[in-house]
Formats: sequence, structure tokens, C-alpha cells
Amino acid sequence: MSASAPGIASHARFVSLEGGEGAGKTTVLDALREALRAGGDEVVSTREPGGTPLAEQIRGLLLDPSHEPPSAEAELLLMFAARAQHVGETIRPALERGAWVLCDRFTDSSFAYQGGGRGLDPAWIADLERRVVGVRPGLTLLLDVDVARGRERTRGRGAGPDRIEAERDEFFERVRAAYRARAAADPARFRVIDAAMPAADVAAEAVRQLQAWRGGA
Ligand SMILES: Nc1ncnc2c1ncn2[C@@H]1O[C@H](COP(=O)(O)OP(=O)(O)O)[C@@H](O)[C@H]1O
Ligand SMILES: [Mg+2]
Repeated sequence: MSASAPGIASHARFVSLEGGEGAGKTTVLDALREALRAGGDEVVSTREPGGTPLAEQIRGLLLDPSHEPPSAEAELLLMFAARAQHVGETIRPALERGAWVLCDRFTDSSFAYQGGGRGLDPAWIADLERRVVGVRPGLTLLLDVDVARGRERTRGRGAGPDRIEAERDEFFERVRAAYRARAAADPARFRVIDAAMPAADVAAEAVRQLQAWRGGA
């Protein structure tokens, strides 16, 4: 159990990747998975919102720009509905059998996007974390990059922006500030990586941080 979060279990083999759009989370996750597999460990890599068939359906509801936008509260609760399912069906069973779990976004994304971005009360989000999630990564890598550079990277993607990616820059500035504040408040769990570096350097730094964590865990 983590001393800093009563009622929430922290798992050494649970690692999350966080950061704004185009920070490089998916790119880094692939490098981390390869590094761990090279050591012979079982690795489950997953993402949020999503990570189970039902949670992926909820992801579709959340990100599809074609229907009416959910209220901030509906968005938060759908995120946590997906997360509850993801923890129960995918993350907990994997941790219990001793696998590493690498997750592209987790509860910190709700603090950053629905808290920082949408302005919902972080105390409410913390309560949901305790009541319906109950588990936290031991290590969280925050890929930090300025908003314009991150957005520039995502413009190369095939599909158009999803509903959240289509938000304005001010929204993403609030997301970034919330992420940085969370990292500063919990240095035992977070490592902040300068994601403006070339992709290979970001991945190498992330692997180095993971190996250091693994050595100490
Ligand atoms: N450090 C980097 N420098 C330049 N381009 C990058 C870097 N990291 C990722 N990219 C590219 O930017 C795009 C977004 O990266 P991605 O890993 O999908 O970000 P995220 O999952 O955080 O949104 C991809 O096309 C990827 O190849
Ligand atoms: Mg991604």
C-alpha cells in the first residue's frame, strides 16, 4: 500500500504512461514492452479508455465526435466506468499472476483532463479513484512536451481528431499544468521525461527509468 494514498494499493509491476496528445506515449510503451520481454517477464500492455471489449465500446462512445458531446460529469463517469471494468477484467488478474502491466493512460488522465481540462473537482475524482479503482501504478512516466509540438505530431495521423483531440489549445494547457502539478506532488511515483527530444532519446530515457525502478522494486 502506498503511504501517500490510503485505501489505494500501489503495485510495483504496474507502470503507466501519461502526457498530452502526441507526447509519444504509444511509441514509448512499445519500447518498454520490448525491454521487459527481453528480460523474460510476462508483459500485458493495455490502454485507456479501453482495455476490455466493454471498455473499448465505452471508449467509442467517449471519443466519437458524431453524437452530442457528453457533459463534463458524464465524461468523467464514463471514463471511470471503463476503468472499473478494465481494472477488474484485465489489470488485477494480470498483476495477481505476476505479470507487468504497461498502461497507456490511467487515473492521472482523469485528474488532468476531467479535472484540469474540464474543471471538475479533484476531490470527487479522488473519491472515485478510491471507490471504483483502488489500485495505482508504482511508476508513472509523464511525457511532457509543449502543446503546440504535441499537436503538430498528431496531425500526421490518418484519422481526423477524436472528440477530445479537437479541444482548443487552452484546454490542453490546463491538462499539461494539471499533469505537472500532480507529478510535482508525488515524486516517489512520477518521473517526468522531456518529450521534446527525438523519439529514440525519449524511449531510451523511459527504458532507463523503468530499469532503475525495476532494480529498486
Ligand atoms: N519524441 C518524438 N519526436 C518526434 N516525433 C515523435 C516523438 N514521439 C512520437 N513521435 C511521433 O508523433 C506521433 C504521436 O506519437 P504517439 O506515440 O502516438 O503519441 P501519443 O500516444 O502520446 O499521443 C507519432 O507519429 C510518433 O511517431
Ligand atoms: Mg497514443
